[in-house]
Amino acid sequence: MRKYFLMAVLLAGHLSGYATEGMWLPQLLTKLNEKEMKGMGMKISAADIYSLNKGSLKDAIVSFGGFCTGEIISSQGLLLTNHHCGYSAIQSHSSVQNNYLDNGFWARNKAEELPNEGLTATFIVRIEDVTAQALQGVAGHLSESARQSAIDKNLNTIKAAAKKESYQGVLIKPFFEGNQYFLFITETYKDIRLVGAPPSSIGKFGADTDNWVWPRHTGDFSIFRIYAGQDNRPAEYSKDNVPLKPKHFLPISLDGVAENDFTMVFGFPGRTNEYLPSEAMKLTVEGQDPARVQMRDAALKVIDGFMRKDEQVKIQYASKFASTANAWKKWIGEMQGVKQTNGIQRKLDFEKRFQQLAQAHPPYRGLLDSLNNLYKAQAPYAVSRDYYSEMVRSVEMLSFANNIISSLQATRLKGEEHWNAEREELLAKLQPLYKNYNNDVDREVAVALLDIYFREVPSSRIGGEAYQIWMETNKDGRTTANKLYSQSALTAYDKLAAFLNQPFRKVSEAVWKDPATRLAIGLRNGYIDFINKPYDELQPQINHLQRRYMQAQMDLVKDKRFYPDANSTLRLTYGKVNGYSPRDAVKYGFVTTLDGVMEKYKPGDYEFDVPEKLRDLYARKDYGPYGAAGKMPVCFIASNHTTGGNSGSPALDAYGNLIGLNFDRTWEGTMSDINYDASICRNIMVDIRYVLFIVDKFAGAKHLIDEMKLVRPKKMKAPTVKKKAA
Ligand code: ARG
Ligand code: GLU
Repeated sequence: MRKYFLMAVLLAGHLSGYATEGMWLPQLLTKLNEKEMKGMGMKISAADIYSLNKGSLKDAIVSFGGFCTGEIISSQGLLLTNHHCGYSAIQSHSSVQNNYLDNGFWARNKAEELPNEGLTATFIVRIEDVTAQALQGVAGHLSESARQSAIDKNLNTIKAAAKKESYQGVLIKPFFEGNQYFLFITETYKDIRLVGAPPSSIGKFGADTDNWVWPRHTGDFSIFRIYAGQDNRPAEYSKDNVPLKPKHFLPISLDGVAENDFTMVFGFPGRTNEYLPSEAMKLTVEGQDPARVQMRDAALKVIDGFMRKDEQVKIQYASKFASTANAWKKWIGEMQGVKQTNGIQRKLDFEKRFQQLAQAHPPYRGLLDSLNNLYKAQAPYAVSRDYYSEMVRSVEMLSFANNIISSLQATRLKGEEHWNAEREELLAKLQPLYKNYNNDVDREVAVALLDIYFREVPSSRIGGEAYQIWMETNKDGRTTANKLYSQSALTAYDKLAAFLNQPFRKVSEAVWKDPATRLAIGLRNGYIDFINKPYDELQPQINHLQRRYMQAQMDLVKDKRFYPDANSTLRLTYGKVNGYSPRDAVKYGFVTTLDGVMEKYKPGDYEFDVPEKLRDLYARKDYGPYGAAGKMPVCFIASNHTTGGNSGSPALDAYGNLIGLNFDRTWEGTMSDINYDASICRNIMVDIRYVLFIVDKFAGAKHLIDEMKLVRPKKMKAPTVKKKAA
């Protein structure tokens, strides 16, 4: 009996004794998190993660190009990130003869490593709280814009006074909706070379079908190297640059993960909104997500149909399709997840409690109702705004037209004599887009999206000019599109170039006659006046109250630990390796293996083909030191709280060793951006042993493994089991 009781207590502790929600600031871990992390199994101290006095884990983490995360894994600046983060770099070096996306790429030595213009890696040297200086002289009664300019002035003063070396950068960002400000001293390296990438059949295995989905079997990694000047400092590309000698690099554990193991993910999450009031969450999942999904559903269906029957279209649209589908699928998951966990009701429950607490604090009374009312007032405009931006994003002819309109406006401001330069810039921007443009595809997308737009957006918000065109074409997407795609100069790059190759005044007049630019101007004017203007007018009040509501929550809800929303700054999240149950009677394990890759294998399929060499290794079970119990682990999941931007972030064990590479979240858990729930939110990581196996056994790049530091912490520190009397 007692034994069972003890087990129940232990089990309950496992499930609720710790919080895995949160993206924490590394310099505040000692104060806020260290105790809990140790309780969950962490074997190092907060100072090993972030320290100013010694090399710490943070010195091995970089923002990769500003959109992903990377980590240093050797004393010679070797950098690991995702395949999908290195994708455009890999693509840029690819040609029909040397298709590195299809075949993979492996530099045999440093001389073969490939430079990438424009690619950067940024380290965080130091983080400081500058809230007091940033908000100096900013009194409560200032208007939002006056407040912002006062703050901007303060920030400039702080930046100018910041202690830093000449080769370092400084960055200040608002946190907690502008209630706090932190300063970051950065070091940005600019010579980042491609070292290795698996073929897409490994690095992108499962592609869009498996994207956001568990169980997953993707080897989503690529390898780069940071080069520095002779003095080890950031330098522009030069063949004389040398591999970076980092302050710290991550040892790699070969021990793998077990259920309930403590894990951390350290990286640069992009954007979350965890402290919205209920009306804003409702707006997201009942207004904006459905609108965006409706538009993308229609566009994706059209494009997919063409891609399936036309090889040329497949190549032209592959990357556009992937990025459109990525967010589309995420929003669907977000709606489902909020519904399944009663996210809105949970917000309402929290708000009820907040309102009771606010009764005792006069300044906070009424605040929440006002904020909710503002979101309610903004909601119709927010939804129309999404319909508009989705339409001009997916109908490329409208987006080309908008580019033309912007260039004409810019010329009008600068003076007509700038038209030639402006036009050249415009043509240079549009030419590559036309390479991947097909009139038939775009026309059918336009038919579908115009019908939705004019049906879903009230005519009062569309504006007279656009509505006039809509009536001229029988209020029918097909008729409108037929006119556009048979008569416009925008249907082909050559025609467009001839159209623009006229004096400024001629072009300014012609855009009112060309059916595509005329429609684009009408839609845009209506959008600016009747959607964006009322939307923007409410925004300063929302910003103001959202900031106060954030502060109020922190002041009143004492039993809650607050972390700032993600804003592309360095954060640490921690959790445990664990499966989950997404719905009734379904239970997911926490780890996948190469067996699952072979189960999904479809010869010749563009998403699920498996390279012959990998099939051979599987048949021979030739996993080297990377396999475990006769299996080759591939991916695993844990309850770390991550979001977009965390791609490429290291997954670390209790000692700070590298055990995996974060690259995705599970579908039901994508709602964690607005509604984290430990029961179903999981991040997806590729097991580092699969990465090493591919590098060593598949690619034969053993020289890279030799650069790394492999460790076996579990083996070394195997606990001596003390016998206890039962
Ligand atoms: N869902 C992941 C992210 O948000 C991976 C996206 C890249 N992969 C893809 N199949 N589109 O970035
Ligand atoms: N794939 C995402 C990225 O590129 C990470 C997945 C997520 O949103 O959590 O950052």
